[in-house]
Parts: sequence; structure tokens; C-alpha cells
Amino acid sequence: MHVHEFALTGLILNLLLLFLLFNVADAQNIVKSLPGYPGALPFKLETGYVGVGENDSVQLFYYFIESERDVSMDPLVLWLTGGPGCSAFSGLVYEIGPLSFDDERYNGSLPSLHANPYAWTKIASIILLDLPVGTGFSYATTSQGYFSSDTKSTKDAYLFLQKWLLNHPRFMKNRLYIAGDSYAGKIVPMVVLEISNGGNEAGLKPRMSVEGYMVGNPLTDSRKDENWKVPYAHRLGLISDEYYERAKSSCNGEYINPSPNNTECLFALHLIQECISGIYPANILEPKCQHLASREGLQWDQGYLEEDSIDILLPSFDQEKPKCRDDTYVLSRVWMNDPTVQEALQIREGTKEQWRRCNRSISYDMDVASVFDYHQVLIRKGYQALIYSGDHDMMVPYLGTLQWIRDLNLTVEDDWRPWFVNGQIAGYTLNYQFNEDVCCFTFATVMGAGHTAPEYKPKECFAMIDRWFTNYPL
Ligand SMILES: *[C@@H]1O[C@H](CO)[C@@H](O)[C@H](O)[C@H]1NC(C)=O
Ligand SMILES: *[C@@H]1O[C@H](CO)[C@@H](O)[C@H](O)[C@H]1NC(C)=O
Ligand SMILES: *[C@@H]1O[C@H](CO)[C@@H](O)[C@H](O)[C@H]1NC(C)=O
Ligand SMILES: *[C@@H]1O[C@H](CO)[C@@H](O)[C@H](O)[C@H]1NC(C)=O
Ligand SMILES: *[C@@H]1O[C@H](CO)[C@@H](O)[C@H](O)[C@H]1NC(C)=O
Repeated sequence: MHVHEFALTGLILNLLLLFLLFNVADAQNIVKSLPGYPGALPFKLETGYVGVGENDSVQLFYYFIESERDVSMDPLVLWLTGGPGCSAFSGLVYEIGPLSFDDERYNGSLPSLHANPYAWTKIASIILLDLPVGTGFSYATTSQGYFSSDTKSTKDAYLFLQKWLLNHPRFMKNRLYIAGDSYAGKIVPMVVLEISNGGNEAGLKPRMSVEGYMVGNPLTDSRKDENWKVPYAHRLGLISDEYYERAKSSCNGEYINPSPNNTECLFALHLIQECISGIYPANILEPKCQHLASREGLQWDQGYLEEDSIDILLPSFDQEKPKCRDDTYVLSRVWMNDPTVQEALQIREGTKEQWRRCNRSISYDMDVASVFDYHQVLIRKGYQALIYSGDHDMMVPYLGTLQWIRDLNLTVEDDWRPWFVNGQIAGYTLNYQFNEDVCCFTFATVMGAGHTAPEYKPKECFAMIDRWFTNYPL
């Protein structure tokens, strides 16, 4: 065979390979500008779909934003929003991403956006993933494909990362963190363990450089976390000492599903309910708006983050009305369902009837009741963990989070003390270690923040994550 023929065969093989690669490769698009944002985006945004599962029948949509600082050295973060069923875009635009809506100036036309000076993408590259399937722009090509669960979405997250890294090999060496809040408090530790045991230790490629995880107001054990609402309401002065004592002495510690013949307990809970049903649970200091009046009390259904409300849509920013959190959520609904926006984001036509910030009709089985054991295993394996809690959240109160952390029986390394931003107390922190070699399990409250802490205290949360990534104490 002549050299030329070799070269030619090589070329053909290469072309064939490229062709195959492009054919099976998942879609990824660079987005240079967005409707409502003036000029070119000052950061690198990529959107795309990654197919997972049999025949790639689950198509997971993601937003990827490169770090604005040092792409090669800064960490890579996979961010999951809670719900289950709330879009990653909610995390992007209301919590940690580089864009926020201008709600002050909203006049009923397409909402406009501005840069968020406290975006976590200033110091980390972040993939925000619409998970589980059915969430945001993620969809399935078959009806069975729409079924998901805690276990299934964990597997899907792993498969997603595997393919995403293969398509973005320059990020394989960056240290990787898995993060999320609210309901994602269950999924995040499960994904870390899946990468550790199911992937890396099983020799699957690519090896993922996972260093640790962070979770905010994380649902950890549904039953226990919910029960802490009553002690929390007492601690924050929402119920009297007498009501609390009454419930404590009669309910045997069960405030969510009390025995129906325990009349003393039921009466105490009724008194408590009366006191807290007018409270906005995601941040007890904010107004609870009319349209949410039906969702109240101790128990809640799976919508951890409040539903967008269409009835109050336009234009709701008048001076007399209290400023409601949900009014700002409506902006994402208006913006995301605009055809020019979907075109800019390269959304596949016909895959979604409409975009919802939280999809409350996903078919989802909450098949893991508690992830306490996952945390226990992960700390023994030496993963770093940051657990933070907005201390004004009554949905997943910090008291319950502190309790399960205490139950891990770790050694206190740095006891409860304030942490500061610009000389002011931003919250309180507590550091644990597993043993002398394995550091650290950090807990921090974010003072004054609600359920999704960066949404309420962006500057403080940015400082917190920056110090944690650089291994400074908070
Ligand atoms: C995958 O595709 C094959 C061939 O078209 C089909 O027989 C099989 O049922 C598909 N599997 C799923 C889960 O859709
Ligand atoms: C709303 O404001 C935008 C600019 O911010 C303007 O272009 C548009 O005409 C306004 N629409 C209405 C209905 O006032
Ligand atoms: C409730 O009723 C069940 C059976 O009828 C009984 O075993 C239980 O002790 C009762 N509990 C209380 C608190 O009265
Ligand atoms: C919500 O998820 C279900 C599947 O679980 C899907 O059929 C539906 O289209 C989704 N709705 C929205 C608004 O995304
Ligand atoms: C923590 O210590 C208590 C008391 O010694 C023990 O009952 C419990 O099982 C321990 N928990 C863990 C997670 O090791």
C-alpha cells in the first residue's frame, strides 16, 4: 500500500468519524445576545440538549455559562433547581446566574434584563440543568420517557455529565461540584455518590474530578424537615410558648401527620395553624399575597417553590400593592414563552407547549425518603460539603438542617460563630470534620435570607461561595 493510500484511508476514516460524531453529538449552541438584554452578552452562554437513556429518549436541556475569571482554573458546577420540576432557569435568573429581570421598570411588554453583579459565574463555570425530564425545556420522545424519580433523575444527571464532559473535554480536569437547593437537597448528594461509586470507582470514563457539593435549605428527610416547622415558628416568635408547649406535650413529636384521635394535639395544631397560615413560608418577613391564600399551613404538596400565577399577570407593579415575590416570577414566564427568546436559546420547535418556571405535573416518584445516609457516606469518603440555610425560611427550616448535621456525630472543628461581609454579620457558621484527615463539613446560615438564599442575599451568598471555593473559612 502506498503512503498516499494510507493517508487517504486515514482521511476518509477521520471524515467518517467526524460525520458520525456530528450525527450523534448532542446539540450545543452559543448564544451571543438575548431579547431584552441590551447589546452582546458580556459572558459566554451556551445552551443545548443532551440525550440520555435508551435511544436518547430523554432530552435534557441545559444552560452553560463559562467563568468570567479563569476558565481553566475555576471550578465547574452542576446546578439543579428544586421542585421537583422547577427549571434551572429559575436558579439562573433569580439566584446565581449572570442575568436578572428589571422588575421595577416592567410595563407589560417583553421584560428586560440586566447583569447580576453577584453572579456565581464570575468565579465558576456553571451548568444549569433542567432536571428531571419534563422540567423547563427538557422533554422525552416517548411517553414512558417522561416518568422519573429521585433514583432515575440521579442516574440521568450522571449520564448527562458523562456526555457533556465528552463533548467539552477541556472541562474534564476542572474540579467539579454538584450544587442545588430546596428539593435538589435530595438529589445533589445522590449524584455525588453516583459519580463516586457508580462512575469513578467502577472505572467509567470520563473520570470526574468531583471535589464536593453544596446544598441550600436542602430537603434531606421530608418527614423530619417538615416537623421542624413547629419549633421554628416558636423560635421566631410566630407562636406562643403556651401553644408550643401544648403541641409538644400532646403530639409526641409528630406535627405533620398527627393521630386523628389525638384531640389535644389536633387542637394545639389548630391554634398554631391559625397563627402561621398568613405567613409567606419561603420568607417569613415577606408579604403573603392574595392569590396564594389557598396554599397554607403546616403541610405542603410537592410545589416547594410557589407556582407562577397567571391571573395577576399584568401590569402588577403598582405602588399600593405589597411587592410580592411571585410577581417577579411571572416575568420569567412572559419572557420565556416569547418566540424570539426561544429562538435565541435554540429551543427545538414543538417539544414544549409552553415553558413553566415550575412544572407541577411531572410524573415523579419520590422514592428516597431521606438522604441522611448519603451525607454520612460522602463525608467519610472525604468530599467537601457546604450546607447553607436562609434563616428566614419556614419551608426547610435551618433548625432541621442543624439537627441532621448534629446527628452525623462529626467533630466540631470551629464552633458556632458569626461570619462577615464588609464588616457586618452575614450569618453564623459551624465547621465539622470527620477525622484529622478529612475536612470539612461547613454549615452556614445566611441571615435574613429566605428559602432560596442567593435570591434574597446575593452579595452575602456570593462572598460565601467565593471563600468556600478558595478554602477560606467563612
Ligand atoms: C428504542 O428503539 C428501538 C428500535 O426502534 C425500539 O424497539 C425500542 O422500543 C426503543 N426503546 C425505547 C425505550 O424507546
Ligand atoms: C415599555 O417599555 C419599553 C422600553 O422599556 C418600550 O419600548 C415600550 O414601548 C413600552 N411599552 C408600553 C406598552 O408602554
Ligand atoms: C387512637 O386510637 C387507637 C385505636 O383506636 C388507639 O390504639 C390509640 O391509643 C389511640 N390514640 C390516642 C392518642 O388516643
Ligand atoms: C410537565 O411534565 C409533563 C411530563 O411529566 C409533560 O407532559 C408536560 O408537558 C410538562 N409541562 C410543561 C409546562 O413543561
Ligand atoms: C451518633 O451517636 C449516637 C449516640 O452514640 C448513636 O446512637 C448514633 O447511631 C450515631 N449516629 C451515627 C450516624 O453514627
